[in-house]
Amino acid sequence: MICSPSFLSCDFNKLELEIQSISEAKWIHFDVMDGKFVPNTTYNHHVLSRIKKISNQFFDCHLMISNPEKFYMDYINAGADLITFHFEATKDPKTLIQAIKDKGVLAGISIKPGTDVLVLEPLLPLLDLILIMSVEPGKGGQKFIMNSLNKIKYLDDKRNKNNYKYLIEVDGGINFETAKLVKDSGNDVVVVGSFIFNKNNRNELVKEFENV
Ligand code: DX5
Ligand code: ZN
Repeated sequence: MICSPSFLSCDFNKLELEIQSISEAKWIHFDVMDGKFVPNTTYNHHVLSRIKKISNQFFDCHLMISNPEKFYMDYINAGADLITFHFEATKDPKTLIQAIKDKGVLAGISIKPGTDVLVLEPLLPLLDLILIMSVEPGKGGQKFIMNSLNKIKYLDDKRNKNNYKYLIEVDGGINFETAKLVKDSGNDVVVVGSFIFNKNNRNELVKEFENV
């Protein structure tokens, strides 16, 4: 699988050093929170621009924000390679997916634990990625919600049957045990926050997650 470290859990006073500590990761996961869609705020597109200057990794940008159609361009201009917004945050996901793709950027959609995966059905042929939240969005260090496995299995089965192209990504409560469970369910990308950032051998852990 691809390991996409979420540096939500890192020390923002030494951002450049923190990014170097995950230099082995092919993707970096940016957890953008606006304090409206989720009760927490993290950082905005200016942080992406700063990191883009010191990293050529794939920028996996997770917008946990209201009205993503108003702000997605800021993140594309800051260097995002993938923009994932929340199904629950917009009335017209189809238009936003197309707008992101028209800019040559990959388009992803995310659903919260309480949202039924069936709502994504009409969007599956359009999507480059689906992000399954395996914790309630808003903070790191929470426990993995087991029902997420059923959503991954459903999406993996759907894409096999219909030859859809999307990647499946999971975010929240990932450690080596849950990484194995999601991989066996058909998952492609794991977002890992506290499990990696609470330790010093971060690049080793990234490689281990890639080989789960
Ligand atoms: C939730 C965040 C977290 C973060 C990962 O809003 O999106 O899921 O990426 O945090 P851990 O890996 O610590 O659960
Ligand atoms: Zn995330």
